[in-house]
Amino acid sequence: MPSSAELIATEHRLGAHNYKPLDVVLTRGEGVYVWDDAGMRYLDCLSAYSAVNQGHCHPKILAAMVEQAGKLTLTSRAFRNDQLAPLYEELAALTGAHKILPMNSGAEAVETAIKAVRKWGYETRGIAENKAEIIVCEGNFHGRTLGIVSFSTDPEARAGFGPFLPGFRTVPFGDADAFEAAVNENTVGALIEPIQGEAGVIIPPAGYLRKIRDICTRQDITLILDEIQTGLGRTGRLLAEEHEDIEADVTLIGKALSGGFYPVSAVLSNSEVLGVLKPGQHGSTFGGNPLACAVARAALKVLTEENMIENSAEMGTYFLDGLRDIRSNIVKEVRGRGLMLAIELTPEAGGARQYCYALKDLGLLAKDTHVDTLRLAPPLIISRQQVDWALERIAAVLGSGR
Ligand SMILES: Cc1ncc(COP(=O)(O)O)c(C=O)c1O
Repeated sequence: MPSSAELIATEHRLGAHNYKPLDVVLTRGEGVYVWDDAGMRYLDCLSAYSAVNQGHCHPKILAAMVEQAGKLTLTSRAFRNDQLAPLYEELAALTGAHKILPMNSGAEAVETAIKAVRKWGYETRGIAENKAEIIVCEGNFHGRTLGIVSFSTDPEARAGFGPFLPGFRTVPFGDADAFEAAVNENTVGALIEPIQGEAGVIIPPAGYLRKIRDICTRQDITLILDEIQTGLGRTGRLLAEEHEDIEADVTLIGKALSGGFYPVSAVLSNSEVLGVLKPGQHGSTFGGNPLACAVARAALKVLTEENMIENSAEMGTYFLDGLRDIRSNIVKEVRGRGLMLAIELTPEAGGARQYCYALKDLGLLAKDTHVDTLRLAPPLIISRQQVDWALERIAAVLGSGR
């Protein structure tokens, strides 16, 4: 068995350096914990960017996966399978969606929505050919495909990858007036994260999404909410849109849709948008495969049956209050909703990454984002005692920093 140093050296030598992971080599996970190759246990406060909301290796999702893997894994959509229709039904019952399109990664769900909304605009709104526009927000993160990075405002995500896809108009996040001013006769859709996750857990002003909803309804614009990170309980509700009591026309989910076992994403449509796609116009070999569907069905079941969403709301408030009580002269702001939390450090702190390493040494894994922000997103099954344990370590690390 190679040492962790050897494994890291091999990654450096043979792997593309498109990530800069913390140097911890994990070998096992259970619930809120993961273990490294030396047997050290860590409280996972990232949850694979919110894909492991249900906790690592949830036994019921595991059982569903193993059972299905022994029966039938992939048929492609050339044929039907017995897991897709039940997933549709369960997703529709849970979210109120009228039409569903299953994909694999989050980015694919975003691409799917963009294609469908453009087509809907041409067919239903009579937009002139190739003129459709989608409004997006500054600071957005919707994935890494070329189409998606075309409307990223992060220079690192874009530099060197042009030429880019046209048809997007960027407005400041959280500013409904700027959004309305950007609408024109070619605007077919708005693509928005209810809370910007990768940007550092940026929560828009109260009422923002409601105003956007109203504008979209008035102007016949399809509102697409990217809930790939905020959805499935992360913010203390099934979908973050519920905090403003609104319904998107199209909702994108992924990540925790499989509890971290498998890439599964879906486009949920409340309007007729997905109805414009006809055979041959969109698809994926693996999208909607029986293994993915069985895993997703189990992942959704445990999320609701085991009250993980309620726990996210309760523990999120408790965690946030605890973080706000930490006395530290390097904390600029603490923010969060449910168990989607962030600590923004002052520029004097010298970047969040060193604090991630200090926390790692104390048995807590968290990730820096945008230099100064430390993101905390534990599995939704975290207990009060585990939050207390985390708070003690965070206080120890941030209290000592200056
Ligand atoms: C809001 C949001 N949308 C889309 C994505 C892309 O998902 P994936 O990495 O599965 O392609 C992410 C991933 O972090 C995300 O946070």
